Amino acid sequence: MIEQPLKLPNGTLLKNRIVKSAMSEALADAHNNTTDGHINLFERWGEGGAALLITGNTPVDRWHLEHAGNFVLDEKTDAEQTKRLTAAAKKHGAKILAQLAHAGRQVPEAINPTPLSVSELKLDLPGYGQPKSATEEELQATIAKFVTSAGLAKDYGFDGVQIHAAHGYLLSSSLSPRINMRDDAWGGSLEKRARLVLSVVRAVREKVGKDFIVAVKLNSSDFQKGGFSHEDSIETAKMLEKEGVDFIEISGGNFETPVAYAHKSKQESTKIREAYFLEYAKDIKAALDIPVMVTGGFRSREVMENALTNGDADLIGIGRPFIIDPEFPSKLFTGDMDMIPAVERDFPPAQDLPRGAVLNWFCHQLALHGTAGDSDLSVPVVEGHEKYLDYIETSTKRLLETRGQ
Ligand SMILES: Cc1cc2nc3c(=O)[nH]c(=O)nc-3n(C[C@H](O)[C@H](O)[C@H](O)COP(=O)(O)O)c2cc1C
Repeated sequence: MIEQPLKLPNGTLLKNRIVKSAMSEALADAHNNTTDGHINLFERWGEGGAALLITGNTPVDRWHLEHAGNFVLDEKTDAEQTKRLTAAAKKHGAKILAQLAHAGRQVPEAINPTPLSVSELKLDLPGYGQPKSATEEELQATIAKFVTSAGLAKDYGFDGVQIHAAHGYLLSSSLSPRINMRDDAWGGSLEKRARLVLSVVRAVREKVGKDFIVAVKLNSSDFQKGGFSHEDSIETAKMLEKEGVDFIEISGGNFETPVAYAHKSKQESTKIREAYFLEYAKDIKAALDIPVMVTGGFRSREVMENALTNGDADLIGIGRPFIIDPEFPSKLFTGDMDMIPAVERDFPPAQDLPRGAVLNWFCHQLALHGTAGDSDLSVPVVEGHEKYLDYIETSTKRLLETRGQ
């Protein structure tokens, strides 16, 4: 099954069922343009055999980055360099989507101390500023930014866009009744909380036409008391289907509840559960006719095959293993590999490490791909974490200097 092609509603044929999910690469330059290291990494991923590559968080607004190294798609983006990125990714038959995002209240404070959000509720973590609750005009302007970025993605050779409505960024926070406490047309009932993401999808579709892939990444739940629930997720998915999206990717959580890249250590359990959002995806798939992709924890061919043959999902999204071995899909297809890299299982349990250490170790490895040409798995987890913090601090200083901030 994993090798079987899949035709998306827009007519695009994906050559198999393996998708590289979005992973923020932190490899853009101080003007947030793609770099040679970033381009080479996408070529390598394309050569590795996946059907579809999704870029990391690609902001539609330079004041709402998720970090300084984000590749941005707006009027200032270097067109020729971006066309090199898409051509490199597609050279071996993969398709590429730009993951369009607005970080909302999850913008680092150094980049924007007063980010736009759906309310004034501050993120309950250090290093984030005091959000401003967006006005009607600001929400309409934000929708227009998604449209501009989607149009540019089409002009520069992407096969489509994925609208990021998961993980606590602006569109995801709008869906959450815990964060979105508005009593105007953009908050309250689920229909009103979903209005922002639905408006973005509708306006983007109108801009790019029916042949271009328009996908959405959605939380199965925020896993937060009073947040976006699993029932909300199923209903939102149905509304998105009516707007003509080509597939929905299921993930979960946000910065405060970072369950999307959960790491379980062998020290905690000898039997580690794979595909931790699959049960949720199954319910969502049962409610829809369009394809569903599920991401998070897939490591064995058996679990991937079962998810597809049982009809629980149509596409298998994979993240971290692409950092460790960019060529793993071809090895799965030839039968040379049944179990893809799961190095996170060899790390100590999360509670014995600094907050975010394992994620930051992976971020460091991604940065090494782009700056040194390959990862270096010999780097210990805490050292990788600290190196990434230094790296992102340097990128932030460079960005602020360039902006004259
Ligand atoms: C280094 C890193 C960066 C990530 N950046 C993004 C991102 O920009 N956008 C996104 O939707 N998910 C992001 N994710 C989440 C992944 O897409 C994926 O959902 C998660 O890693 C779980 O899949 P896995 O177990 O196969 O790694 C990131 C994950 C990692 C490890």
